Amino acid sequence: MTVYSPGRANLIGEHTDYNDGYILPFAIKKYVKIEIESSERFKIFSKQVKKGIEFEAPLKTNSWADYVIGMVVKLREHGYKVEPFNMVLDSELPMGAGLSSSAALEVGVGYAISQLMGYEIEREELAKIAHECEVDFVGVRCGIMDQYAVALSKEDHALFIDTMTREYKYVPLYLDSAKLYLINSGIKHELGNSEYNKRRHECELALESMKKSSFRDVTMEDIDKLSDPVLRKRALHVITENERVLKTLSALESDNLLLVGRYLYESHESLRDNYEVSCEEIDFLIEELRKYPDVLGARIVGAGFGGSVIVLARDNFEEIFKKVAELYTMKYGITPSLMNVETSSGVFRVDSI
Ligand code: GLA
Repeated sequence: MTVYSPGRANLIGEHTDYNDGYILPFAIKKYVKIEIESSERFKIFSKQVKKGIEFEAPLKTNSWADYVIGMVVKLREHGYKVEPFNMVLDSELPMGAGLSSSAALEVGVGYAISQLMGYEIEREELAKIAHECEVDFVGVRCGIMDQYAVALSKEDHALFIDTMTREYKYVPLYLDSAKLYLINSGIKHELGNSEYNKRRHECELALESMKKSSFRDVTMEDIDKLSDPVLRKRALHVITENERVLKTLSALESDNLLLVGRYLYESHESLRDNYEVSCEEIDFLIEELRKYPDVLGARIVGAGFGGSVIVLARDNFEEIFKKVAELYTMKYGITPSLMNVETSSGVFRVDSI
């Protein structure tokens, strides 16, 4: 049996998903492919890294295989039966490109196991289990965005999630007069590295200093009272980004793509200056894109420190991209790549190919 698990992009709402904030991600038509069958022993082979591993007891390996092994552990912890399987993985999602290849793998593995074993897991529950796998087993304190987007997305829609209540709704993404694109900068981020966890910690410290238990209760006056300039910037990002997500929702509803684009640029500025998760190469891309009126907006996507840029642009964007890519390659010696964004549904099974 074969399962396809999509990567995700995020229109807006970055670094808000672990701060009780709002997010607007969607799944993309780029997949991790998982083939699974019953077996005597656990066997996993990755075509991408050209390596395999066999095991009986699911123990941590500190390698790519932990996304699979962690799901075995977590499903069992939640009372789901998992018997040995033979699994072959392949992926068209670049790793470290900010498109959530790890969540695609976790959610996909969980879904494939449930299908093999013959039970259904509610998609929200699947997202929660995959999130636990990432946090407790792999050891990255990520928010819930990626696993929710991979499990719950719907074609032609973004997923608006209030990460405080975990309530969500689907928002139509029919962008008549413009399109979404993703540019992979070719700069790999190391999500596991300490910067992501450091930002989370800084947000916790900021809340503590403001004597608040949630960013939902934080006002501009509270932020003004923060004496530590770094904590102030982090908190400022979180509350302004939340406002931008809500404003983007209204702009989408009234089909005002110029406004949507402006919020994307503003989000990038805040991620660059307040949250400090961008990098020189991506800032260069954004500044070059900004010179073209047909580019309505652009910003870094995902955890940051490299990865991809999401772009909202009018039709002739390929031409613009060529010019910007040329300058980028001249300056940094790296070739960026362009992806036409097509929205996807969440993880699904294909029986015969
Ligand atoms: C990574 C994490 C998400 C989210 C983004 C930033 O993708 O896995 O939970 O925090 O970074 O918005």
